[in-house]
Amino acid sequence: MAARVFSGIQPTGSLHLGNYLGAIKSYVELQDRYDAIYCIVDDHALTIRPDPAELRANVREVAKTLLACGLDPKRCTLFVQSHVPQHTELAWILTCVTAYGELGRMTQFKDKSEQAESKGDFISAGLFVYPVLQAADILLYRASIVPVGEDQVQHLELARDIVRRFHSVYGETFVEPQPLLSPAKRILGLDGVHKMSKSRGNEIGLLEAPETIRKKLAPAKTDEARKRRQDPGEPTKCNIYSLHRFVTPAATLPVIEVGCRTAGIGCLDCKGILAESIETIAKPIRERAAAIDANPKAIDDALEQGARRATEIAGATIQQVRERTGLR
Ligand code: TYM
Repeated sequence: MAARVFSGIQPTGSLHLGNYLGAIKSYVELQDRYDAIYCIVDDHALTIRPDPAELRANVREVAKTLLACGLDPKRCTLFVQSHVPQHTELAWILTCVTAYGELGRMTQFKDKSEQAESKGDFISAGLFVYPVLQAADILLYRASIVPVGEDQVQHLELARDIVRRFHSVYGETFVEPQPLLSPAKRILGLDGVHKMSKSRGNEIGLLEAPETIRKKLAPAKTDEARKRRQDPGEPTKCNIYSLHRFVTPAATLPVIEVGCRTAGIGCLDCKGILAESIETIAKPIRERAAAIDANPKAIDDALEQGARRATEIAGATIQQVRERTGLR
């Protein structure tokens, strides 16, 4: 039996280029080599209290986008977290072997709680224990490989610590998961400062119309040295160039580098080429998404089939965990 891969993605609605390059592209590649399980984590989404109708719609939108990106229900398991209640059951059990102090050190919690505080928003205890639910997701399936972007590495370290603590108390039960990082492990947003994310509003949406992407690229940050068209620039200091490295054919990259350094091309030209490269990736995804819109039952079928398989695996693990912990 092939080793198992597991990863999760939040139903934030429209997925962006950072999600695609940092994670989804790997999900697609891994489904032929491993027993790949992918989860849309709606229980996690509750930590920021989305509108219920919006959450339901976002789960479908994310499922559609993942299928459109190339996840194939015949070659992988795709399901929704809340359809398999063993996730929240195991999360509680793991919460009891997780140190309070460890959770307080999670940088994602610090960032998200600071962002919420600055807006006067409520900070839920769910946001604090979020990484434990993430550990439960992975451990339920005894997955050894977890394709993620760099922002999730600390959560994976915690998951490994939780495994070790659980084992020292109750005996060997789980597998220690390892993160698998893609070369595009941290895509910056159009502000050129922060990680691309929907909450920052600095993202390029995967299903966005090409005209919208062009408009968003126009004011995006480039090398500060290029104030006027004739100023030469340094590609390694430019976020637009760093995006080129992940989407533009390798043969075109030297042309862009030289063009930038000699002011042979302007930043707008460079952004035009980037928009074309993104369109080459995004067009087939948009087309497949439109085909799924015309046959929405494909989403229900994939998720139902996925939940059935996930429940089988998760059910066996949780049974063992209940016995080991004295719950049964
Ligand atoms: P989420 O939904 O924020 O992101 C999904 C995946 O996309 C990656 N990613 C990025 N990669 C590169 N550059 C970016 N700008 C960028 N933005 C997002 C993320 O690293 C992630 O791999 N906590 C997780 C979801 C989760 C999970 C899990 C992941 C829940 N349970 C179990 C792995 C295993 C999250 O919020 O990802």
